[in-house]
Order: sequence, then C-alpha cells, then structure tokens
Amino acid sequence: MKKNLVLTGMMGVGKTTIGKKLADKLKAKFVDIDRIIELQEKSTIRSIFENKGEEYFRKIEKKISLTELKKNNLVIALGGGAFINLSIRKEVKSSCVSFWLDLDPKFLIRRLKNVKKRPLLDPKNLGQSINKIYSERKKIYSESDFRIKCSSMEKYEIIDKIKKLYENTNN
Ligand code: S3P
Repeated sequence: MKKNLVLTGMMGVGKTTIGKKLADKLKAKFVDIDRIIELQEKSTIRSIFENKGEEYFRKIEKKISLTELKKNNLVIALGGGAFINLSIRKEVKSSCVSFWLDLDPKFLIRRLKNVKKRPLLDPKNLGQSINKIYSERKKIYSESDFRIKCSSMEKYEIIDKIKKLYENTNN
C-alpha cells in the first residue's frame, strides 16, 4: 500500500494542475479537497464563505480532509489553508509524503488577478493580502516533508522532481 502524496501551499501555486498530472504518472487517484467540498455542499467555495462564513468552511474542510487523508494511494491537493489546521497537519505528517509548492508572492499576484474564486483575497489590495497570508503561513508550510521552490521551474520539472522524491521516499 502506498502513502498518500499531499500537495500544500498558497492558492494559485498550481496544486490542482500539478496534482492531476502527478496522479496520472503515478497511476494513483487524484483528490482535490476543494472540489469535494463544493460537491458535498452543492455550492462554490466563494458562496460557502459568503453564506455560511469561514468558520463553517474550515469545519467542513477539516472533516473532508481527514477522511481523504486516512485513505491510501491518493494524490491529494489540500486547500491553501488546510495545512494550518493542527489536526490536518498531524495526519499529513504521520501518514503521508507532503510537498510545499512554494512560489514567490510576486508570481502569485500575477496568477491571482482573477480573484472571483478566492474569497480570502481583497481585490483592491491584492498584493498586500497575498503577501500577508504568505508571511503568516510560510513557517507552517515549511513543516512539509519537502519544499519545492517553484519560482524558476517549469511545470514539467516540478512534476518530475516531486515524482522522484516521492518514489525515493516511498519505496
Ligand atoms: C484557501 C484556499 C483555497 C480555498 C479557500 C481558502 C486558503 O484553496 O480552500 O478559498 O485559505 O488559502 P486553493 O488553495 O485551492 O485556492
């Protein structure tokens, strides 16, 4: 049985795109926690934040993340804030191989211009809100098993690197 491969890091780093490709290569199933939340709640992440609040979202996020993390042989893209939760972080650290996709905030700002899907970002102060969240979280993200510095890497290089590290750790 294979340990789950977990991707964490800021919104906009490419956890979903990279996770899908990695799952194909590793012949594993891909799980995107945000998508499961949306399906279960029959609502978008933005509407959940607007109608029920962040606290409610975090509760659902914790429940769904822990359920998926306890399975095996998955590539899991966590939501950007999930690793901040202590229970989720403990489960990831004890049973999975985790990767922090780290991208310089200046690149995140470019990628996150369309903020409609991201309720935590203030469109009027995009740079400021991204920098603030990044500096609050980077110490926690760094508790991942591996930090992948994505700023000067092509997508295929990131995927190859993670695949190799995972295979070396997990075999
Ligand atoms: C969040 C990131 C989002 C989503 C929610 C909160 C965060 O996921 O879970 O908007 O706290 O960073 P992505 O990282 O997939 O955008």
